[in-house]
Amino acid sequence: MHIHAYEKLWLALSIVLILALIGTVTYGAVGPGVAMVADSQSTVDPGALDEDDRFSEPRVEQVGENEYEAYVVAYQFGFEPTPIVVPANSTVTLHITSRDVIHGFGVAGTSANAMAVPGEVSEITVETDEPTEYGIVCNEYCGAGHHVMEGKINVVSQSEFEDRGGDSE
Ligand code: CUA
Repeated sequence: MHIHAYEKLWLALSIVLILALIGTVTYGAVGPGVAMVADSQSTVDPGALDEDDRFSEPRVEQVGENEYEAYVVAYQFGFEPTPIVVPANSTVTLHITSRDVIHGFGVAGTSANAMAVPGEVSEITVETDEPTEYGIVCNEYCGAGHHVMEGKINVVSQSEFEDRGGDSE
C-alpha cells in the first residue's frame, strides 16, 4: 500500500499529539505538588457523621506545638464550624467532608482549595501567619443556595486562641 509522504507526516504528528496528551494528563494527575482528592484519603459514612469521632463535633484541636487539626463539615448551605478559628503562626491541617452533596472549599484570596465530597475526607494543610480573616467559598455548584454558601476562617493571636479554650464554637 502506498501512503503519501504528507499523509505519513500527519499520521506521525497525530500520534505525537496523542502521546503528548496522555503525558500531560498523567503528569497532571501524579506530578509534584498536586493532590488528588481520592488519593490515600480516608473515608467516612456521610449518613453517620454524628457518630464519627472526627466529625460529630466539627472543631479545631491542637496536636503539637503550633500544629493543629481542623475537622470541617460542609452542608447545604454552609460550613461547620463557622468561623473556623485557628491560631496565627501555625500549621493547620484541615480535614473536610460533606454531609450531603459535593461542595467546594476555597479559601478566598489564597491557593488553598479542596473538595468536600460525601463519604470522603479531603485534607489540606495551610500555614497561618498574622491574625486576619479569610472567607471560605463553595466553588462547586451544590443547589439553590450555592451562591450564598460561605464560611470564614479567623486567624487569631495565640493568646486569643488559648482564651477561647481552643474551641471554635
Ligand atoms: Cu456548596 Cu456550592
